[in-house]
Amino acid sequence: MYKHALSIDIKVAEESQLDFLVTQFSPDNPLFQYNRYEVQKKGEGLYLIAWHSKTPAGHFLLRWSGPKDAAVTRFVDIASRSYLEAGHTNEEFRRKGVATAIIQEAERISKERGCTHIGLEVGIENREAKQLYEKLGYQDWGQGEFTISWEYTDKNGNIGIETEIVTYMQKML
Ligand SMILES: CC(C)(COP(=O)(O)OP(=O)(O)OC[C@H]1O[C@@H](n2cnc3c(N)ncnc32)[C@H](O)[C@@H]1OP(=O)(O)O)[C@@H](O)C(=O)NCCC(=O)NCCS
Repeated sequence: MYKHALSIDIKVAEESQLDFLVTQFSPDNPLFQYNRYEVQKKGEGLYLIAWHSKTPAGHFLLRWSGPKDAAVTRFVDIASRSYLEAGHTNEEFRRKGVATAIIQEAERISKERGCTHIGLEVGIENREAKQLYEKLGYQDWGQGEFTISWEYTDKNGNIGIETEIVTYMQKML
């Protein structure tokens, strides 16, 4: 789909790759990969993987709309806005433009689909990620911080809850 100068290709995840993606990205949480692929399978978005040759280097989940958090939907009409989540670049590939390449591809696809904006939530203490998004033209929405929480199941089947204080950032496409 997108060819990056550092030989990074952005491709939509395939079902046959999921076990491999688990080993490369989330060996302790296989469901992360499967759940993201499920979003794509249901037609609700695309699970975008950055490949360096045959090595997966990073990922983002692009949803056609979101987020569903009431703290955001009270102020923002998410219907025409795509949404980025689950951003990650493996340590050895960081600061090489991997996340930038995925986000730019996500923006291109979103625009092609008719989305007017693209948004994301970022932890208020996640300095690296905030810097990345600001560099790419994302702006804080100006409505303040809020707490999100999500449930996860680990490889032993234990269910846990994580929480994070985040802000919403967006960009006009
Ligand atoms: C945030 C993250 C996805 C960035 O991925 P990446 O592939 O290294 O990002 P890029 O190489 O495209 O970085 C582009 C720009 O973002 C900013 N940036 C990225 N990492 C940074 C860091 N560690 N410190 C400061 N700025 C950083 C810089 O402006 C950088 O440009 P530069 O390298 O020319 O200075 C990666 O650090 C990561 O996986 N972090 C852990 C998970 C996470 O926080 N995900 C985001 C959740 S919202």
